Amino acid sequence: MLALSSAAAILFIAGAVTMHAATKISHADFGKMPDGTIIQIFTLTNAHGVEARIMNYGGTVVSLKTPDRTGAKGDVVLGFDSLEGYLAPEPYFGALIGRYGNRIGHAKFTLNGKEYTLPKNDGENTLHGGLRGFDKRVWTPRELRDGGLELTYLSKDGEEGFPGNLSVTVVYHLTDANELKIDYSATTDKDTVVNLTNHSYFNLKGAGLGDNLGHLMMLNADTFTPVDAGLIPTGELRPVDGTPFDFRKPTPIGSRIEQNDEQLKLGKGYDHNWVLNRKGTGLSLAARVEEPTTGRVMEVSTTEPGIQFYTGNFLDGTLKGKGGKVYGLRAAFCLETQHYPDSPNKPSFPSTVLKPGQTYRTTTVYKFLVNGRAFKMNPPPKKK
Ligand code: GLA
Repeated sequence: MLALSSAAAILFIAGAVTMHAATKISHADFGKMPDGTIIQIFTLTNAHGVEARIMNYGGTVVSLKTPDRTGAKGDVVLGFDSLEGYLAPEPYFGALIGRYGNRIGHAKFTLNGKEYTLPKNDGENTLHGGLRGFDKRVWTPRELRDGGLELTYLSKDGEEGFPGNLSVTVVYHLTDANELKIDYSATTDKDTVVNLTNHSYFNLKGAGLGDNLGHLMMLNADTFTPVDAGLIPTGELRPVDGTPFDFRKPTPIGSRIEQNDEQLKLGKGYDHNWVLNRKGTGLSLAARVEEPTTGRVMEVSTTEPGIQFYTGNFLDGTLKGKGGKVYGLRAAFCLETQHYPDSPNKPSFPSTVLKPGQTYRTTTVYKFLVNGRAFKMNPPPKKK
């Protein structure tokens, strides 16, 4: 009896451990920081041959290879072949963003009656955590036994003007359901504000293989947050109905992007936060994108209340990426799951305040399919 139940217990434990067990993780050196610190790159591979490469500088997704409808693998994120590309000025390709994703208006906010002043790195405003946000930090990596990659970073009290020592953990998993899953958590020792995201630039045709305009985009949102000339939300939640911001049905990104619309002009295209339709606090579908020529589909689910849909309006062909490919205007799109921009100055928006004793926790999943079907890579060779 005893033997039986311990065998059952072992089976149970084995079952729990195999959840991600097919994902393999390995690492290699990727380059050296100017101070000599070695940066490592981690390769996560799932049972179907999907592969994500992530480095501990910026916690950056460097490449993400998924199959098209013929089974041919392609890299669907923009980036560089070596660390040097990421050390030069570049627009946050694949990086983790913090302490505050997107903009804080006039580079200041007030918390508990105290005003905090932040660096201005985007006109009058603070963008993506300031001059040296989490995208430009070296994270401490740890390979997990389930094939996941854990990255931790301690953002010191006062760093980039933000209060409190913030201890951040981000875990990447590549599951056998072809999902890149990102779990973010953080704790603080003083009241602060937090808004973490990932800034991958996707092109489901393949990075550097043309623009994003033909992708069919669906955003699960009835309203969005219109912005002023500095791309700071005005505070209004505007219905998308009857506007070029209505992506409730799959619509090509390019079909309305050049319309004479005040908000499109301010963003130079789409560069706005959509207010997600959601129930409860769990993972909920935020976006679905399909690239008709390759059949690649990406679904984004998140626990967050908003998503920044940015169409690469500042890409201008001056950056040469992986394989020497040039990244021109609208060569990719970003879907940054987040709280709304400038929430610290907008009491009506969901709060981004984190207090000692609380744990910030959010999850975002990018799932890859082909024309809505799950795919299997590397099928066993056919018997002759
Ligand atoms: C975000 C912003 C954009 C732009 C990119 C990075 O998506 O909303 O305006 O700054 O980051 O270039």
